[in-house]
Amino acid sequence: MAERYDLVVVGAGPGGYVAAIRAAQLGMKVACVEKRSDLGGTCLNIGCIPSKALLDSSELYHLAKERFGKHGIKVGSLALDVPAMLKRKDEVVKGLTDGVRYLLRKNKIEPIFGAAKLTSPTTLQVAKNEGGTVDLEAGHILLATGSEPMPLPFLPFDGKTVVSSTEALCFDKVPEHLVVIGGGVIGLELGSVWKRLGAKVTVIEFLPRIVPTADLEMGALLHKSLVKQGLEFHLETKVTGAKVEGAKATVTAQTKDGKTLSVPCDKILVAVGRRAYSEGLDLAKAGVTVEQRTGKVAVDGRFRTNVPTISAIGDLIDGPMLAHKAEDEGVAFAEILAGKSGHVDYNTIPNVVYTWPELASVGQTEEQLKEQGVGYRVGKFPFLANGRAKAMDETEGLVKILADAKTDRVLGVHILGPRASDLISEAVTVMEFAGSSEDIARICHAHPTLSEAVREAALAVDKRAIHS
Ligand code: NAI
Repeated sequence: MAERYDLVVVGAGPGGYVAAIRAAQLGMKVACVEKRSDLGGTCLNIGCIPSKALLDSSELYHLAKERFGKHGIKVGSLALDVPAMLKRKDEVVKGLTDGVRYLLRKNKIEPIFGAAKLTSPTTLQVAKNEGGTVDLEAGHILLATGSEPMPLPFLPFDGKTVVSSTEALCFDKVPEHLVVIGGGVIGLELGSVWKRLGAKVTVIEFLPRIVPTADLEMGALLHKSLVKQGLEFHLETKVTGAKVEGAKATVTAQTKDGKTLSVPCDKILVAVGRRAYSEGLDLAKAGVTVEQRTGKVAVDGRFRTNVPTISAIGDLIDGPMLAHKAEDEGVAFAEILAGKSGHVDYNTIPNVVYTWPELASVGQTEEQLKEQGVGYRVGKFPFLANGRAKAMDETEGLVKILADAKTDRVLGVHILGPRASDLISEAVTVMEFAGSSEDIARICHAHPTLSEAVREAALAVDKRAIHS
């Protein structure tokens, strides 16, 4: 007989496990099915967390090598231990994935390790990793199966030379020359890691700019900074093929003016986007409609698919493919299911590129406001004029605030600079409360902190910054 649950969540990534916990908190009997042997999904296992572990380690190495001297710290012979760096990354991952297991247990959620497939709108069968199958019956099913790296049609991943972000987190030695296809967030973050550790890194981007969805000015500033760090870029360049011979490869591409570019390398990271993942779920069996082109599942404002007992969240549905977006959807979904009023404000989801300097943003870009014909005022403040940034010797970048010309309401905030990822949360909070640049300008900010740059940018909206 099938075990019956109020909710069965498929996928234990940040969307799925958070939804499961919130549903359990609200009194539901919940099961969470995961086909990996660890919980936490792409984010914890092969995405956000391991990449940040390597970004932090590689930044420390870079600082020790290039910047400690300026602080008056002399380092003897500096050496890189890649296996130790990877081991630390794996330990960080393990600590967090075990933590999710503990959290599920604490909330009396049964994790079932295996691959789930739908057998009807309210039943599933799980092929368990340890062997055998188990049938589950659910009042409601939540699909949170995430996404996978998208290959180029003419350049399939081979896991060794032509790789996705998954393998680029585990190179056992520093590549001599890493070619990155795609100047988006994955390409820039992992390109930065291996550049800092000593690889030559060439980024080939199809569009005339990197991070195409970022505010144009801020994207250009990040580009300039990465060029200064030694990353090489070919913009408006279309990769046409690659030849792999053993551990060596040559990438061919066509530049905007029709020239052929030929780049010899030993690793190719293809980072041209991710696509929704629902393989093996047998969605058709339960009648769930999947969009042919994107593989995404369409949902209504309450995350319901076309089948009323089945919902979906995270990378499987529309919107930015971000862990925190999936988490918020997970909470909102569980609350709605429990008859409460869960809600996600898609305009205030922050976006961060964890390069150094970091690029963090929330709300509208200047280009979007122009396109919408919205009148706005801009306030900017450079970290060069911020006391704490000076003390840290991290003066690159600026804060840019866009506020409505009539009401002064904050419409967008873009920060390129040290710890922009942490600084952006003030902007998110103010925007959630429909605050104005005047609100930020009147709030006391501790001195000396990087956050003072946010206040000064708010003052600059009204042309009254004190320190510039
Ligand atoms: P992306 O969409 O950020 O960037 C892909 C880039 O590749 C774009 O600039 C695009 O113009 C370019 N491109 C596409 N086809 C190309 C081609 N044939 N030749 C050259 N360039 C080409 O995708 P990415 O970096 O793979 O990341 C995937 C997803 O993962 C994103 O949606 C992102 O939100 C998420 N992610 C988020 C992170 C974060 O929040 N820090 C970190 C890593 C991933």
